[in-house]
This record gives sequence, C-alpha cells and structure tokens, in this order.
Amino acid sequence: MNGRFGALNGVNASVHSATDRAFHDVVSIIRAKRDGHALSDAQIDWVIAGFTRGEVADEQMAALAMAVVWRGMTRAETDRWTAAMIASGSRMDFTDLPRPTVDKHSTGGVGDKITLPLAPLVAACGAAVPQLSGRGLGHTGGTLDKLESIPGWRADLEPARMREILADPAIGAVVCAAGADLAPADKRLYALRDVTGTVESIPLIASSIMSKKIAEGTGALVLDVKVGSGAFMKERAHADELATAMVEIGTDAGLRTVALVTAMDTPLGRTAGNALEVAESVEVLAGGGPADVVELTLALAREMLLAAGIDGIDPADRLADGTAMDRWRAMIAAQGGDPDAALPRARHTEVIRAPEAGVLTRMDAMAVGLTAWHLGAGRAKQGDPVSAGAGVEMHVKPGDSVGVGDALFTLHFDDERQDEEGRFNRAGRELAGAWEIGADAPQAVPLILDRIGD
Ligand code: URA
Repeated sequence: MNGRFGALNGVNASVHSATDRAFHDVVSIIRAKRDGHALSDAQIDWVIAGFTRGEVADEQMAALAMAVVWRGMTRAETDRWTAAMIASGSRMDFTDLPRPTVDKHSTGGVGDKITLPLAPLVAACGAAVPQLSGRGLGHTGGTLDKLESIPGWRADLEPARMREILADPAIGAVVCAAGADLAPADKRLYALRDVTGTVESIPLIASSIMSKKIAEGTGALVLDVKVGSGAFMKERAHADELATAMVEIGTDAGLRTVALVTAMDTPLGRTAGNALEVAESVEVLAGGGPADVVELTLALAREMLLAAGIDGIDPADRLADGTAMDRWRAMIAAQGGDPDAALPRARHTEVIRAPEAGVLTRMDAMAVGLTAWHLGAGRAKQGDPVSAGAGVEMHVKPGDSVGVGDALFTLHFDDERQDEEGRFNRAGRELAGAWEIGADAPQAVPLILDRIGD
C-alpha cells in the first residue's frame, strides 16, 4: 500500500531504472522515484548537490519530494540522502575535545523545555553537549526562543567560541543557533516541503533531522520522539517508524544513536511559554520542578551518559548537589545572559477557574500549545516576534482533584485588546475544549513508552 508515512512503500529496491545511465537528468530521476524505483547513490548525490547550487529547480525538487512521500526510500537511499545533505555544507568536528560529546534532539512537544535542565546536567556529569537548536513555529516553542527570554542571552555564536565553551571544564554545554552552512540543502528543502505538502514522509523527516545532527559533530545522540495530540507524530506506529529510521541513519553513519518514544497527549510540566518555561527549568535544576519534567530529564540524561560511554555517575546526584545548577549559570553567562536577572513577565494575567468539583480527566497538549501561541508565545511564520512573558500556567494536571472555583490555568499575555480578536479571547476559545472535569481519575499513562536502539 502506498501511504504518506511509508518508509519503503512501493519501492522496488532491486530494480534500478534506466536513470542509472542518465543520472544527470533530473526529470528521469523524478520519473524513477514516481514509478517506485530505488535511486542510486550517484543520482541522489547529483540531485541534492544540484538543488543546493540552484541548478535543480524548486518545482523539480518539489515533484521529487512528492514522489518520495508516496514511494518512500530504502534504508540505503535514506542514508545516502542524509549524507548528501550533510555534504552540502560544512561538518563540525569536536573529536579533539578532552570529553566525549553527546546531544539530544526532541521532535517537539508542548511544554517541552527539557533541553534547558538537561544540557547543563549532562555537562555536570562529564560530557560535552554541543546543541544547535531552532526557533519555534506554530504550537510548539523553540529552545532558542525560551533562552532568549533571559536578559542578555545570545543564540548566535562563532564556531570557535562554541568550541571554547565546550572545552571549558566549568561549562561544557552550548545551546546555540545553527550557522547558515550547516546542511544548507536541508534548509532549502525543508522550506520547500513546508509549502508543497511534502513534510509528511518518514525518510524525508528522518534525513532532515539527522543531517543537521550529524553535521553538528556530536559523537553520540539521544532522540526524544514524541507521540500524541501535541506532537508531530499523532500515532504510535508512525512515531516508532520515525524513531527506527533515525536510529538506523545515525548508526549507519557511525553515530551512537538511541531513541526514546515519549507521550505527548498532555503538556510536559506546568508551563507552556518562553520565560515561564525557563523559570520551571530553573526549579528542576534547583532540585524541585514537576515530576514529569524531572523524570524525562533524568531518563534522557542516563541515556546520554550511556551513549557517551560515561558510567558510574547518577545524574540525580548532580541535580541534588547543585553542580547542574552551577553549570546552568556558567552556560547562560558564557552566552551573555544574566542568570540572576528577573525574567520578563507579561503585562496581564487572567485565571481560569473550575466550574465544578471533580477530577481533571483530560488536558489536551495541542489545545494548550495553541492557547500559548494565541497568547503570543509562538509565531505564525518565520521571523515573527514572540512575547517572552506570554504563555499558559497549568495549576492542575490530569488525575488531580479540583474544587469549584479552584484555579485551573493562568493565562499570561501582553495584548491590550478586549474584543473577540484580542489574544485573550482567542486563547480562551482555544482552551475551552482543552480540558474536562469528571468523576473518576483517568488511567495513568506512562511517559516513556519505548526505547529504540542498542
Ligand atoms: N523537523 C525537521 O528538522 N525536519 C523535518 O522534516 C520535520 C521536522
């Protein structure tokens, strides 16, 4: 069956078409994929290089991407596609650092601030964490947007400064923006896929993410593949397939790669919004914070240490003894931020209260993410400004008891408009369908659903 998420759907891996003889002809390459053939290494290298140089037109690349959406790619094709995208730019190399490097990538979810406590925590355990990160679009926030709410903090770093911070035994963790030369073919292709309905393909998503992570130069990688209403992948089978595809690409490229598949039907933690999430991350680093954020931070930290070959250290000890907090402060200061500065606060807050008593049975991650977005925490298109203080505070989570009039949510926003199109009213309409109060507690769902990789 052909389908939007098929990794191998319809591909006849054993049949190389006549295009092997004419791999410089982009129309033949498109036809070959359209007809279900596997592309050769030379065809893939040629088409990605040509697209990067502007010699393969956007409409041709879009047609090829659509053919991949329907026909899929084999593991060998996906590996080569990834390698060609890495080769389109420069690849960082940290093998001369005195400590092993390891990074984490999340496919994105609502309230997912895990990178903030995780990077300094893993650095405090002896690894170097080079993380090139992105800004948010739509209902999920971007790590850089969150960190940019800290006064003075800068996302742009020269590669030499990044290396210095990673080598510094008192810091060892960097979260910064990817330079223009990191997998430029992916940058162009992802923007094209975004406007041509060709994002939804496991091999294209997997190669897009992994090309950037491999080019970043990390020695090991832990993936957090989210599944549920607030995630990119809504269904478990698709999340497992994506996790497997990314682990295969990493492994085939010589990168120690493991994936956790984690639940994203309910937001992570108790905040969604930039400065609100920074404050919650600092709570975790101080030894407190919401149980789900602590659980996932520690689980990912343990996987990262394992992947980096560091044993005998329990990251929970580094949270408890304050060394992770020290690394956080040093990491923020190294990028110009003031870890002691007050975080920005939105100009207005409104509290949403429970109309009845009972148990919170549901809180939908997607609706909460969209609520934070309406309030100003996210952007509708690249380059839009975001509000540092805007977002949603969740006072209860599924399974918690509530009484009549108890606070469920506090909405934070800057907008003065009171009419129907004002941010608060738009957010209120979104949030109305996000939660339910019932008589019985919902069945507890595990946060970590699976682990994929050796
Ligand atoms: N994130 C990426 O970086 N690439 C994709 O294709 C999808 C999500």
